Amino acid sequence: MRILIVYFTMSGRTKKTAEGIASALTNHDVSYFPVELTGKFIEKIKKLDKFENNDYSAIEADFETLDALNYDLIIIGMPTYGNKPPKIFDEIINRMKNFDGKKAIVFSTARFSGGKSLDYMKAKVEGQGAQVIDQARFRKVLWIGVKNAIKFGNQLNEK
Ligand SMILES: Cc1cc2nc3c(=O)[nH]c(=O)nc-3n(C[C@H](O)[C@H](O)[C@H](O)COP(=O)(O)O)c2cc1C
Repeated sequence: MRILIVYFTMSGRTKKTAEGIASALTNHDVSYFPVELTGKFIEKIKKLDKFENNDYSAIEADFETLDALNYDLIIIGMPTYGNKPPKIFDEIINRMKNFDGKKAIVFSTARFSGGKSLDYMKAKVEGQGAQVIDQARFRKVLWIGVKNAIKFGNQLNEK
């Protein structure tokens, strides 16, 4: 399968998890659409604040390339912000071309809660006509590691 992994990350945990999953997908071609906040902490917060206020001008050009057409499966990973994904999740789903009819997997990273975030993500993805075939939450208060991500990737790799 050709797999596109789409993720947003501010402190690197979701990126690390996405890469852990990808490392196990040895039977498949994996590409990424990453949205990573970079810079010092205060700069990251300012960038996040723009996204949370629906200002995506910094990544407008990237959004133009967000197209599910050439992929069999789209994996979407997000942090958890108060039982929901960040607002950029909705924007990504709204902007993704040719998503209708595709298979999708959603995953979230969290520190202590956030179970409802996956329900939110699943409903949004299905609202765009894609089919959610699996989901996972990677929750660790401190060091997240990649053990569970690799385990999830291994299961997917064998399917
Ligand atoms: C604004 C904000 C809100 C958050 N809210 C929650 C939350 O409600 N529940 C939770 O478990 N973690 C929460 N977290 C922690 C993140 O979801 C968690 O650390 C995530 O893995 C970060 O992903 P990242 O490193 O890819 O940015 C929050 C973090 C931030 C910055």
